[in-house]
Amino acid sequence: MKILVTGGTGYIGSHTVVELQNKGFEVLIVDNLSNSSAEIVEKIKKITGIKPVLEVFDLGDREKTVGFFKRNSDIKGVIHFAAFKAVGESVEKPLKYYRNNLVSLMNILEGMSETGVQNIVFSSSCTVYGQPDELPVSEKAPIKKAESPYGNTKQISEDIILDTIKASDIQGIALRYFNPIGAHETALIGELPLGVPNNLVPFITQTAIGIRDQLKVFGNDYPTPDGTPIRDYIHVVDLAKAHVIAVNRMIMNSMKKPFEVFNLGTGKGYSVLEVIHAFEKVSGQKLNYKIVGRREGDIIQVWADPSFSNKELGWKAEKGLDEMVASAWKWEKAYRAENK
Ligand code: NAD
Ligand code: WQD
Repeated sequence: MKILVTGGTGYIGSHTVVELQNKGFEVLIVDNLSNSSAEIVEKIKKITGIKPVLEVFDLGDREKTVGFFKRNSDIKGVIHFAAFKAVGESVEKPLKYYRNNLVSLMNILEGMSETGVQNIVFSSSCTVYGQPDELPVSEKAPIKKAESPYGNTKQISEDIILDTIKASDIQGIALRYFNPIGAHETALIGELPLGVPNNLVPFITQTAIGIRDQLKVFGNDYPTPDGTPIRDYIHVVDLAKAHVIAVNRMIMNSMKKPFEVFNLGTGKGYSVLEVIHAFEKVSGQKLNYKIVGRREGDIIQVWADPSFSNKELGWKAEKGLDEMVASAWKWEKAYRAENK
């Protein structure tokens, strides 16, 4: 069964391609390599023994995208990861984000409509909840006004998919990720941010390996037990496995309604200092960090109520914080050793 993975050479996409191939799916990747490299397909081949087909083009190009679907109308499902994701950059360059994230999605939905491809899994984000009034946050929690153009593209994308579903035979699943971290156990694929990382864990591992001087901890005066913000970190392989279940659920017609939304988190929150201490424990080395002022736009705390996903998808995140940071560290060391 053929699955299109857009953004399949990226961080979460590449881990999902591996899990799809492990379950016997045939994978086609479309990626414009704006935030990834074509070499990833060789790494995937090393892990699974199968080299996925990679077509390099921009999903913002309507003609190319619809043309792709016309050539591949036997696709059973689309897992749509391709998007820009840097929150800070989206504030500086909102139109870049609205154009890339929304036009690509609309082109894909048009390609699907024109060729009878019915199933789409969409990468959404816990950012749609903002700072929730109640914790843990379930899928029923209200959507808060987005803090950034990036976050807004996720909210608008969910609406675009829902409206399209209402007017067509398409069905969709939006997966709202909490904070994905970690890497594949082989350390052949992992997270590779361009330039200075925005996210906590890549910044920690790059500091430990000596690329960055010091980690800045953005604030220790939050109303949390140790004063630093709390997030629900989830291992990228656990996250990837949920996509395989979601796409299969659609193909097997097991959905309860044509548009479903699921939280993908562990249900457990950790503070920034807890993540740092877990890293120090598993790596056996002290991290150079300093407490500085708060980062604008950061929420205090969020963690998922994953019980609906656990029950409906039969999926549960299995890996704990130590395993997550250990795999991120193993990947950082392996990548830097290979790319000196
Ligand atoms: P990533 O940047 O590693 O992967 C995205 C891939 O999409 C890249 O390979 C990039 O080259 C490609 N791409 C971007 N625009 C494209 C276009 N117009 N045409 C073709 N390819 C294009 O990001 P990721 O962390 O793997 O995130 C995947 C998805 O998950 C994104 O939609 C992101 O918004 C969402 N998400 C990520 C996180 C996170 O913390 N990483 C959290 C929640 C949601
Ligand atoms: C985690 C914690 C920081 C870096 C972002 C997006 C969100 C989603 C996931 C896509 C925070 C602190 C970080 C550093 C620090 N992505 N931190 N020093 O902000 O929860 O979520 O990624 O949808 O939309 O906003 O993740 O990893 O950036 O931060 O102290 O150098 O680590 O303040 O408390 P965040 P993060």
